[in-house]
Amino acid sequence: MSTVEDILVSPPGPEMVVQPAEYFGNAAPVELEIGCGKGGFILERAKRYPERSFLGVEWANKYCRYAADRMVRWGVSNVRLMRTDAGNLVRHHLVPSSLAALHVYHPDPWPKKRHHKRRLFQTEFIAAAVRTLQPGARLAVQTDHGEYFAWIRERLDPVSELVQVDFEHPDFASPGGSPRTNFEVKYVREGRTIYRVAYIRA
Ligand SMILES: C[S@@+](CC[C@H](N)C(=O)[O-])C[C@H]1O[C@@H](n2cnc3c(N)ncnc32)[C@H](O)[C@@H]1O
Repeated sequence: MSTVEDILVSPPGPEMVVQPAEYFGNAAPVELEIGCGKGGFILERAKRYPERSFLGVEWANKYCRYAADRMVRWGVSNVRLMRTDAGNLVRHHLVPSSLAALHVYHPDPWPKKRHHKRRLFQTEFIAAAVRTLQPGARLAVQTDHGEYFAWIRERLDPVSELVQVDFEHPDFASPGGSPRTNFEVKYVREGRTIYRVAYIRA
């Protein structure tokens, strides 16, 4: 039986580059979720694919601990959660070609123009994210913010290593269709439009 301490892993030190599979002690493919919040998506995915490993990265300590507690209650052993800045982790600390999938659902939109520089999808992050994906790995992005979605598409669509694919895919859908993250459930209930795009690393 896992404990919260087994689920929570420390972020790498300043100069460290890590192979994410090491957090799990096996060679199973690793999927990374950035900004996993309360962990609804990663929990469902971990239950459905016990032969895969799932690393969730969340900046807010409160959500990270909440999600870790949830993983313990469900008895999943294939999830690790890290409280850190996911942008920094991807840009500086992951071994190239180490991820089987990268999930980014409802990233903070930073709607004010003067805050756009805080958005996750910047040139350096995108280059690093592509580098960490294995050939054939999937990058999936979902947001309720139309303007941020356009910003993301403007930057991801021209990347030559990324081939756009159908977002809906049986291996990546939740039982209710699409990823069904905590925010998605709330926004769908409110009748908001959800924008989705997925790519495969060539
Ligand atoms: C709008 S919420 C979405 C949560 C979840 N993905 C969902 O769809 O329910 C955005 C989450 O990303 C986290 N976050 C924002 N910036 C982050 C960063 N740089 N690194 C890790 N997590 C981050 C926030 O703390 C928050 O929990």
